[in-house]
Amino acid sequence: MYLILLGPPGAGKGTQAQLITQEFGIPQISTGDILRAEVRKGTELGKKVKSIMEAGKLVSDDLIIKIIEKRIQEPDCRNGFILDGFPRTIGQAEALNELLKKLGPDKLKVLEFEIPDEEIIKRITNRRVCSKCGKVFNLLLNPPPPDGKCDECGGEIIQRSDDTEDVVRKRLNEYHEKTEPLIEYYHKMGKLHVIHANRTVQEVFAEVKDVLQHNFKN
Ligand code: AP5
Repeated sequence: MYLILLGPPGAGKGTQAQLITQEFGIPQISTGDILRAEVRKGTELGKKVKSIMEAGKLVSDDLIIKIIEKRIQEPDCRNGFILDGFPRTIGQAEALNELLKKLGPDKLKVLEFEIPDEEIIKRITNRRVCSKCGKVFNLLLNPPPPDGKCDECGGEIIQRSDDTEDVVRKRLNEYHEKTEPLIEYYHKMGKLHVIHANRTVQEVFAEVKDVLQHNFKN
């Protein structure tokens, strides 16, 4: 199955993607994680996108589409993948349609995570992440270990530089302006399922699992 997780920043896409990977054995492709890794390594791409990400803006379609095109050709994507954070514009969605023509467009489903903006601000400003493996913590719900080291890999736990309230509001504006039109786009294609994301992680996952089990036979 080819799965798109669509929703505003902090809706829980990354959290649910990790659970879907464990349950269904298909990889999570997070464009945000890929870009942050490039920034950390100081590559040319990382240098280009750092200030854009820190300002809460979207990176250009051309750059992102190239990344996805390459990544979905890797062997672990043979049986499907979860797109976490892609597509985010109509241009990206159209490029994805082209790529899926060869792979099987009928295997595509889109889960839209619906959640109010104010809950997002609360979630994101309390988020902490492992700088090495990307494991997600939350100061209110699942706080990181007191020594500040990840319990999975020992990496340092940090706050993302774009997780301040000011930048989150800018990311939300980008979402409403450029990404939200995709809801109508995928609804018209008959691919969209709405997920009520303003509930506990376990409740959200139960709904996700139900939708996937009823909609995919492979
Ligand atoms: P990206 O990394 O994709 O960020 P995002 O979409 O803004 O999403 P987040 O990672 O912030 O949130 P999430 O929905 O995964 O939530 P999470 O599960 O962590 O993108 C970053 C930047 O990269 C963009 O701004 C842009 O510049 C660039 N970029 C990336 N892709 C791009 C593209 N395609 N085109 C152009 N530019 C692109 O959860 C959040 C918090 O809430 C956590 O602390 C978690 O523990 C907690 N939580 C999760 N679920 C629940 C729950 N059910 N109840 C309570 N708390 C919960």
